[in-house]
Amino acid sequence: MKEYKDLAIEAALAAGKIIRGNLGRKLKIGYKGKFNLITEVDHLAEEAIVRIIHGRYPRHQIIAEEGHGKGKIAGIRWYVDPLDGTTNYAHGFPFFCVSIGLEVRGQVVLGVVYDPLHEEMFLAERGRGAFLNDRPLSVSKVGKLMDSLVVTGFNWPSLRENLRHFINFSHRAQAVRRTGSAALDLCYVAMGRFDGYWELNLSPWDMAAGSLMVTEAGGRVTNFKGGRFSIRSSEILATNSLVHNEMLAVLKLGKARRSGRAGT
Ligand code: IPD
Ligand code: CA
Ligand code: CA
Repeated sequence: MKEYKDLAIEAALAAGKIIRGNLGRKLKIGYKGKFNLITEVDHLAEEAIVRIIHGRYPRHQIIAEEGHGKGKIAGIRWYVDPLDGTTNYAHGFPFFCVSIGLEVRGQVVLGVVYDPLHEEMFLAERGRGAFLNDRPLSVSKVGKLMDSLVVTGFNWPSLRENLRHFINFSHRAQAVRRTGSAALDLCYVAMGRFDGYWELNLSPWDMAAGSLMVTEAGGRVTNFKGGRFSIRSSEILATNSLVHNEMLAVLKLGKARRSGRAGT
């Protein structure tokens, strides 16, 4: 595992350097959907990560957001989001990261998330804990939703449903944020800056590293019903575990609203 860990850190640092070096420059921007941006930096960072992983392990499978990954050794799969928070990046809003997760035989065993501007390197290894710049991490001890800072993200397919959840949490939590980087949101839950996070319709590369970070830091990650989470799930609720049930109850309210029952 040490080799994989060192490799993931090397790849994240290389991508981070590219991201930091291009910040503020006039970028070529494309669209993958009406509001889904892609910049040349997403591609450059992903190419660097793939080059580094495949340089060492040419047959490992890499599932990377911008499609530069390939390889197909059975049972080993890297999930790569070269730039999580592209919209923030394109606007110079300083909240974005590189996210790399490693799945072995269907289980995420390693996660690295790197924020190149703040030089924060988050690392989680299954069964061995989570770390920020080599210091062990743990989730917050906040026990009530009304004392919690919680966070979410929005994407098109889930906009209406998530707006209901956003309103419901705004009435019940101390405050709600929407930051624009799912992987960093998860790391912030892992290290106690946030107490809870929920989102819908993410992709495995958004969640693989960050979800392991939360569980290894002592938090809880489930779907919106409190059931088993998988990186292929369409819902994620990640908390310090103490406010998990309260957050599940609020999410249930938002679902119930859709079928005409009580809300807010
Ligand atoms: C996005 C970010 C955002 C989340 C979106 C993701 P990207 O990833 O993680 O926080 O709300 O759903 O697509 O496109 O910046 O890599
Ligand atoms: Ca992403
Ligand atoms: Ca991305």
